[in-house]
Amino acid sequence: MAVDAQPNDTGEAVGVETHCYIDAERGADDQSADGSDIRPFRTLAYAYIQNIDTPIKRYLVGAPNDIPESPAQPVWKEPTKTAVKKAQGILNKHKEKLEKQRAIEEEQQKQRLETLQQAKSIIVKEDSSLPIAVKITIGNKNVELGSGEKKGTRVKVCGRIHRLRVQKHATFITLVDGYGQLQCVLAAGNLTKSYDALLFAQGTSLAMYGETRTVPEGHNAPDGRELWVDYYKVIGHAPSDRDALTNRVSASQNQWDAIMLDNRHLVLRGNTASSVMKVRASVELAFVQAFDKMSFTKVSPPALVQGQVEGGATLFKVPYYHEHAYLTQSSQLYLETVLPSLGNVFCIEKSFRAEKSLTRRHLAEFTHLEAELDFIEFPDLLDHLEEIICTVVDTILADKEISGFIYALNPSFQKPSRPFLRMRYSDAIDWLNAQDPPILNEHDKLHVFGDDVAEAAERKIADTLNRPILLTHFPADLKAFYMKKDPDDSRLTESVDLLLPGVGEIVGASMRIESYEELLEAYARNDLPPEDYYWYTDQRKYGTSPHGGYGLGLERFIAWLAGQHTVRTCCLYPRFMGRCKP
Ligand code: 4AD
Repeated sequence: MAVDAQPNDTGEAVGVETHCYIDAERGADDQSADGSDIRPFRTLAYAYIQNIDTPIKRYLVGAPNDIPESPAQPVWKEPTKTAVKKAQGILNKHKEKLEKQRAIEEEQQKQRLETLQQAKSIIVKEDSSLPIAVKITIGNKNVELGSGEKKGTRVKVCGRIHRLRVQKHATFITLVDGYGQLQCVLAAGNLTKSYDALLFAQGTSLAMYGETRTVPEGHNAPDGRELWVDYYKVIGHAPSDRDALTNRVSASQNQWDAIMLDNRHLVLRGNTASSVMKVRASVELAFVQAFDKMSFTKVSPPALVQGQVEGGATLFKVPYYHEHAYLTQSSQLYLETVLPSLGNVFCIEKSFRAEKSLTRRHLAEFTHLEAELDFIEFPDLLDHLEEIICTVVDTILADKEISGFIYALNPSFQKPSRPFLRMRYSDAIDWLNAQDPPILNEHDKLHVFGDDVAEAAERKIADTLNRPILLTHFPADLKAFYMKKDPDDSRLTESVDLLLPGVGEIVGASMRIESYEELLEAYARNDLPPEDYYWYTDQRKYGTSPHGGYGLGLERFIAWLAGQHTVRTCCLYPRFMGRCKP
């Protein structure tokens, strides 16, 4: 529809729709059209129906023109009287239909309110002759299940309605509490006719009382059990109308869509998001246990810092009293400072990067698992990386519940086979050029030594070779200031990225410059003021050591493990360019 700018009472220009276009040839009577001359409707009747509540000044119908240069361009004319009459007839019928529908809905609503009113007289009471209910969480599997004549334990379980199935003889509710799912059976009768029962909706929180029983043969329920409800108390209702949970979020929509991210707090109640979060929690725990076994000490470096670690372009600057500070990009430099007193160390902290691009593997705030190892050589760092990744994967797969989540989320998940492929940067360049067709660099040319291996190329390597790859010996010019040079080729660094199929790089690691003088040269080359890094330089002044470490992006690791399309669904509330809510 064409829009004229007209001033309103306050003198501001507001849009008033004036024209609606119809073109039998080019138009469409569906959502792809909007009645503009670019996207006209197909029929006049459809245009009237679309504007049922909008006063339109003029309807214009496309007719073939006789301009030879632009035959596809229609001329816009007033509709004929016959066409208007016909369309008006269809519109009137449509209005009658709407009126009938409205009356039916009103009647249904009236009946519903009457039923609800009557339901208030149905009182659900706890039978005091029954055994006292034992309070349990759904995760508690140590309760006696009844079967046949044998009675099961009478329990009280608090949770929320996850699914609701009303059948003639019973209502089936899947109750969730964060520890599992429990099928609750409410036999038809007062239990299903009460006011509260009629308002049951997804999200309603309640306490259910009843006997736990083995699910009858030929039927399925989580953990093979169900609760035969004899009493319940609603704790908090949830809307069952237009505002129902099911109308706000849906399992069939991509969880990384904007609306789903706006409603992330509700999405997190779903099976997929909550199992990703459970997997994530167990991964963190498995890393902590693995580090503990390896005698690493956990530390907690600051988030507010004054220097860059990974280049100035992605620093978030924040006001800090009468000066400014940055949100940390990496805790690495702080980890290095405690090696002399604590030995090998690690941390799991947030890192922040003001990434300007919107990729599926970049966040502005991510969880960074970082470790630093003292008195090691480069091959030790590679061995350690392989060892810790495999240990963590073994630990979580050994947990039945977590491996259940992983295979449900990512049915084709394969545990990485050892040893990991080790490939030098220069061999990766040759590999990219040897593909048919070759995988080109960011300037659409063959890769040459010194080129960055861009995200797409890196993923191609990981996906094609389909196994973890330790990509080593990057040119010094591509890497951060602190990386130690390769003693055999000073153009290169003792650096390594771990690539995994599906996500690409999940770990960035290197040996660190050991020499005091070399570090000062590195500051100079990278325009870093040495006085800001005095505390880091002192590491080299007071008893330096060969040491190295790494950072692992936890969300990328989870994306790989749980088969997630993007890191955005691997954290509780993702932060990236343009999103800082909820
Ligand atoms: O390769 P990066 O930048 O290395 C460092 O920060 C080192 N100082 C770490 C260290 O040695 N202690 O980052 C390490 C890992 C990447 O491999 C990636 O998995 C993750 O951190 N990462 C991100 N994850 C999500 N969003 C971002 N914007 C990320 N930037 C890095």
